[in-house]
Amino acid sequence: MKEQAEILMAANQAQRTAIHAQGLEKSYKDLPVLRGVDFDVARGSIFALLGSNGAGKTTVVKILSTLLKADVGTASVDGFDVATQAAEVRESISLTGQFAAVDEILTGRENLVLVARLRHHNDPSRIANDLLAQFQLIDAAERKVSTYSGGMRRRLDIAMSLIGNPQVIFLDEPTTGLDPQARLEVWQAVKELAAHGTTVLLTTQYLDEAEHLADRIAILHEGRIIANGTLAELKQLLPPAKVEYVERQPSLEDIFLAIVGDDGEDGEDGQDGQDGQLAMIPAASHK
Ligand SMILES: Nc1ncnc2c1ncn2[C@@H]1O[C@H](COP(=O)(O)OP(=O)(O)OP(=O)(O)O)[C@@H](O)[C@H]1O
Ligand SMILES: [Mg+2]
Repeated sequence: MKEQAEILMAANQAQRTAIHAQGLEKSYKDLPVLRGVDFDVARGSIFALLGSNGAGKTTVVKILSTLLKADVGTASVDGFDVATQAAEVRESISLTGQFAAVDEILTGRENLVLVARLRHHNDPSRIANDLLAQFQLIDAAERKVSTYSGGMRRRLDIAMSLIGNPQVIFLDEPTTGLDPQARLEVWQAVKELAAHGTTVLLTTQYLDEAEHLADRIAILHEGRIIANGTLAELKQLLPPAKVEYVERQPSLEDIFLAIVGDDGEDGEDGQDGQDGQLAMIPAASHK
């Protein structure tokens, strides 16, 4: 009886978990990038993987989407092992890479129809219409993508990745390079995905993006997840704000810098961390 209950509990847990990563390690030749990455993502939630340039975010996404093999560790997506059940994992996911993968010469509608055909959808034009409406692209549907703004391209990219109803969607830096308005549009699209039950793992270097979008936030630093929690939980990692003139809650940026440490100030050992930290500035002032 007890064993049965344990098996049931484990099965329930697996059902609630869309992504499970345990002890992931990866080196590129002599460069260790991941040194033991562990996290779980609940179904239907938005999980943000936050880290500086070069922290290894894309490497994690590539391992989870079966494009790259981990040296050590295990991971499963939608209950399938990424190493031994790669085909099943690919059926369950979609990946929107760091750079938009839309075809410039085609119109928005043609891009969607093309992907629907490739995925053997039985009514490509209906699915294209539905997605154009969902992502507010109806007015631009018949225009070549080369005339689209960055935000429209990103939205189309995300729309394309939804064809086939993936259970889990990976968005690698979905808003890098977008202006604030376009970022808001993409955020809205991502929120709607999660509201429909899709699990979203997104990577970002923008602290405010994680703060606005994510149910849980994990900070990847020096090859490990050094913090993982809801925004409220992460805020508790810092002592309560000191009252001087005005009480101020710590921002996610304060938390990040406190956990990661401000290497630049205490001498010798922080040199190689500096570039990365300089990259962790809010979008408006970035690039
Ligand atoms: N194919 C590769 N060969 C060698 N080194 C690589 C390769 N891919 C990534 N790296 C290195 O691994 C580290 C992590 O790269 P990764 O792309 O995962 O970082 P990231 O967190 O996605 O960074 P960014 O925010 O710039 O996209 C970097 O130092 C990068 O130079
Ligand atoms: Mg990357």
